[in-house]
Amino acid sequence: MKRIAIFTDEPGWHGKQLKRAFANKGYQAEYVSLTECKIQLNNTVLPIQIKGFEQKLPDGIFVRGVPGGSLQEVVFYLDILHALKQLKIPVYNDGHAIERSVDKGMTSFLLKNAELPTPMTWVLREREAALVIAEQELKQGQRLISKPLFGSQGEGLRRIEKMTDLLWLTSSNGIYYLQRFINCVGEGYSDTRVFVINGQAVAAMRRRGNSWLNNVSRGARCEAIDLNKSLANLAIKATATLKMDYAGVDIIEDEQGNYHIIEVNSIPAWKGLETVCNFNVAQLLVDDMLLRDKGAV
Ligand SMILES: Nc1ncnc2c1ncn2[C@@H]1O[C@H](COP(=O)(O)OP(=O)(O)O)[C@@H](O)[C@H]1O
Ligand SMILES: [Mg+2]
Repeated sequence: MKRIAIFTDEPGWHGKQLKRAFANKGYQAEYVSLTECKIQLNNTVLPIQIKGFEQKLPDGIFVRGVPGGSLQEVVFYLDILHALKQLKIPVYNDGHAIERSVDKGMTSFLLKNAELPTPMTWVLREREAALVIAEQELKQGQRLISKPLFGSQGEGLRRIEKMTDLLWLTSSNGIYYLQRFINCVGEGYSDTRVFVINGQAVAAMRRRGNSWLNNVSRGARCEAIDLNKSLANLAIKATATLKMDYAGVDIIEDEQGNYHIIEVNSIPAWKGLETVCNFNVAQLLVDDMLLRDKGAV
């Protein structure tokens, strides 16, 4: 039987969904932590050692989680993903896609460079220069968000609204990532999550936050929406720009009706999305992974 490794440290609901979806296709999927992998270049064993796959490498890799850690640890986890791809094993999303999207500075740069609408953003090391930027923005009546360069689920995000907020302005691990705050259209706070698989926008939802943070993990409510063409196209272009097999794209519509791409997630969750769409997202992902790598898997 063909075997798949699902890289994750917390299989949970998503892991179970994937396991079932792979089983439906006749594949046995196992959960593995990237922390348990090794590079072993001694000519006697496979060069990449994955727990439970010591004799034969998996027929495919589904990446559901890359653990955090020191720079060395994270680089090592990415090395494993890159090496597996070099060994012609399908890695979904691959290490490069994950690298680009985990780094918010690179994501912002690539989106802007592709002329896609994304908020004004500054990424820098110097505190004095960060203060000058923030002060200028506030003077112009803008607000800013400071974010950790590597972060997810709304962790470590702060909003800078007034001059006194500059007193606490601190870097995250030495780097300032400042982004102009986009005032969203309508009552309260909301943004749109568009799920793109294989170049198609397959589902979308509105996420309505309790505050300006619209992450589902922060209690945002999910609402079904009809996906219009321009929103779908934007999400598809963003996913292609970051060269991802699939992605969860976050887009905010401002008060003037313009769209701004906030984030392109290479390891998006879909539990919230599935409450408002009528298909099995895990199955769609698994089918896509197996189909696009038909030769290899
Ligand atoms: N520039 C912005 N303007 C308005 N809201 C924002 C902006 N950036 C982030 N947010 C809000 O914060 C949430 C989390 O930001 P995001 O950049 O996606 O970080 P994370 O990786 O932690 O999800 C977004 O979904 C959105 O609701
Ligand atoms: Mg996000």
